[in-house]
Amino acid sequence: MSAPASVFVSPAPAAPSAPAAFSEPASAPARVSAPTAAELLDFVRSIASDPEKVAQLALDPLDRSWIRLEGPGGAEAWLLGWPPGTETGWHDHGGSYGAFVTAGGELTEESLAVPLPSEGWHSLELAEGLDRTRALPAGKGRAFGRNHVHQVANRSAERHAISVHVYYPPLPLIRRYVRDGRTLRLDVVEHPETW
Ligand SMILES: [Fe+2]
Repeated sequence: MSAPASVFVSPAPAAPSAPAAFSEPASAPARVSAPTAAELLDFVRSIASDPEKVAQLALDPLDRSWIRLEGPGGAEAWLLGWPPGTETGWHDHGGSYGAFVTAGGELTEESLAVPLPSEGWHSLELAEGLDRTRALPAGKGRAFGRNHVHQVANRSAERHAISVHVYYPPLPLIRRYVRDGRTLRLDVVEHPETW
C-alpha cells in the first residue's frame, strides 16, 4: 500500500470497507501465535495463484484499485491493482513484517540490503552497495522483515500489474522517505486513518 496516484501507497490506502472476501474458514481453530513469515508468504501465493480471487479486483485504467483481505492469524492483507507507471515511493511498514507476490504483470522492487532502524533518525547517508533491485513477474514474491525499507513499481508502460500483500501485525503506520542519491530522508509518517 505494501496501494500506493500516480504514486501508489503501499499498502493500499484505507480502503473502503470491502467485504472480507477471502477469510479463513469459520471453522478454523483460534490460533495463539503470530503467523510466521513462511505462512504469510504461503498466504499471498495461494491468493495470487487463484484466478477467481484475482479476478474479483476491478482494474482502473489510471487509478489504483484494491480489495482488503483477511490474512492468517489476524494479518492485514490487500489485493492491489497497479496501473502502468505507478509506484509506491520509498517507505517502511511501521515495524510490521510481511510478504507480497505478483499475481499479474510484473513489479520491480528496489530495496536496501540492510535493516534500518524504524525510529530515531531523520536522515541517513547510505553506504555504497546497499541497493538491490529485483524483478517480480507473476508468481514471484518475497517475505520481508520488520525493518524492511523499499519501493515497488509497475515499470510497464502498457500493462497493469496485480499483487497480493500481507502484513503482521496490521500496519500501525507507514514511514515515507525521500531518496536523493545515497541520502534517505524521513518525509512523513502516515497512520491508517489517513489512508
Ligand atoms: Fe511496502
